[in-house]
Amino acid sequence: MCGIVGYIGLSDAQPILLSGLEKLEYRGYDSAGIAVHNGKKIDIVKSKGRLYELKKKLSSNNLKGNLGIGHTRWATHGIPSDVNSHPHTSNNCKIAVVHNGIIENYLELKKNLSQSIFSSDTDTEVIAHLINKYYVPGKIENLIDAILKVLTKINGSYALAIICEDFPDKLIGVRKDNPLVIGLGENENFIASDITAIVNYTRDVYFLDDEQIALLDSKNVTVFDKNKNVVKKDVFKVDWNVESTQKGGYDFYMLKEIFEQPKIINDFISLNLSDNNFLDKINLSNKQIKKFNRIYIVGCGTAYHAGLIGARLMERLPNVFVRAHMASEFRYSNQIIDEKTLLIAISQSGETADTLAALRIAKKNNARVLSIVNVVGSSIARESDNVIYIAAGPEIAVASTKAFSAQLMAFYVLVCNLYRSLEIISEQQFLQMQEKLRELPSLVNQILSCENEIKDKAQKYLSCKNVFYIGRSLDYFIALEGSLKLKEIAYLYSQAYAAGELKHGPIALIDDTILVIGILTQENIIEKTLSNLKECKSRSGKIFTVTSQIDNKVKNISDDVFVIPKTHEIFEPLLANIVLQLFAYYIANGLGYDIDKPRNLAKSVTVE
Ligand code: F6R
Repeated sequence: MCGIVGYIGLSDAQPILLSGLEKLEYRGYDSAGIAVHNGKKIDIVKSKGRLYELKKKLSSNNLKGNLGIGHTRWATHGIPSDVNSHPHTSNNCKIAVVHNGIIENYLELKKNLSQSIFSSDTDTEVIAHLINKYYVPGKIENLIDAILKVLTKINGSYALAIICEDFPDKLIGVRKDNPLVIGLGENENFIASDITAIVNYTRDVYFLDDEQIALLDSKNVTVFDKNKNVVKKDVFKVDWNVESTQKGGYDFYMLKEIFEQPKIINDFISLNLSDNNFLDKINLSNKQIKKFNRIYIVGCGTAYHAGLIGARLMERLPNVFVRAHMASEFRYSNQIIDEKTLLIAISQSGETADTLAALRIAKKNNARVLSIVNVVGSSIARESDNVIYIAAGPEIAVASTKAFSAQLMAFYVLVCNLYRSLEIISEQQFLQMQEKLRELPSLVNQILSCENEIKDKAQKYLSCKNVFYIGRSLDYFIALEGSLKLKEIAYLYSQAYAAGELKHGPIALIDDTILVIGILTQENIIEKTLSNLKECKSRSGKIFTVTSQIDNKVKNISDDVFVIPKTHEIFEPLLANIVLQLFAYYIANGLGYDIDKPRNLAKSVTVE
């Protein structure tokens, strides 16, 4: 949710911290701050608001020094304000800390300290005061000891970057249930909550594991466990390039990422379709899959919607109970989980706290975990038995677009292979499906080339205050996703309904102020959804239909229609969704919103 960056080296820390924070601003953007060690003491500048507010303050007050930490915040404890911004310090300003996560017992810990030393409402500040309390000035080991002692006191989740006035050449990072990577450079080293912050400077990283502590100077990085044993870490080479973290001429990352989808789908196909051993690669042989009698699919938000589609497609597997769950609800669902259970965890970031928690419940109960993840080396990927990487590159816009399409691709390739392996389809049908998958990039391109048509339709509905998205089966899941996009970036009240449910209540809301978006791709149920659209039309609702099945019946009831190309019907929802992505984008754009940084939201929700 928030973003952390830290630097130690021979260069000026401030510009490196600011460039890192720019890359991280999508993680949280209500305030930001940096602390730089000037050789004698720690200087801090922080500001409520977007990063440019901090930059404005720094333009007349540059911080000089080669060691520093920075933070971009998404408020949890205490309103966005200068004092609540990170870094937080001990009252003597010896220790400065930036923190992602939540310290659950901070109030209790605060009670045992003098109240007058606190200046903010945050949970983080208590960490700085406690480190200072336990730190016996002297050697760096004393500081490490103090930090380790604090870790035994705090409950919750954290990624921390810490500097101390006594050590102008030492940077410390520590994590639990919140990501932290260490970037390895030449005569310089980095800490970041997210690779994007440091990819301009290095591609060699260590991923810290829970309760590991990293001590960095410009030449060395040493990682310890909580008992101060040195841990040997493997260097991981990041293959994201710098351009993939830039806007590349688009007004917003979201639009760039929408337009990246043909390439990402194509990449996924090249990586996984020609591979006859896809199931072996993820350790799901025929024998293995037959062993499972339950498959749970978990994810949050957009990832959950991909999971709903995956689950519906996997329901065709014989003798297995399949269900998609919102990861945040999974633990309350009293599901039977044992060694005959397969849990599929879907997450773009690989760090979503609820999804990680569901994964851990499954592991604890001996289930097998297969994850569908974008970020290589993320916690969910590392804790899973097997991973399908969607390889979508960094997704910077808060609203997820390309990751969703890539998650669907992962399910499509998975189910095609499972259907074949379990003889649900013939070899010939399998090859036909593969052929259709190969056509998807060009079909997505066809839709993207109609950007202006979709933009014009969006313009027509800018004054709309309420939108219903309806569909049945797979189309309903796309309705959920389309509606989520509109809420997130255009702040329009919208609701997705299974079309058949409308007349059980919500149809009472339909009048001439309501736009109803119908998704009609599944041939066998199209007539039924069409009837539901007719019911809305007779109550004066405005109808926008996204369909692969155009005919006069559809035209007659629709105020607007967008026709998507026809393909295998299980792949059509992916195409319909591209239309809804652009529609939501152009509504938000027409209303003048900051699309990449929607209010109240942050990328990667690392608190439960
Ligand atoms: C919506 C969106 C969120 C995420 C959700 C899960 O546009 O981005 O709903 O899909 O927070 O995030 P990941 O996939 O990182 O687990």
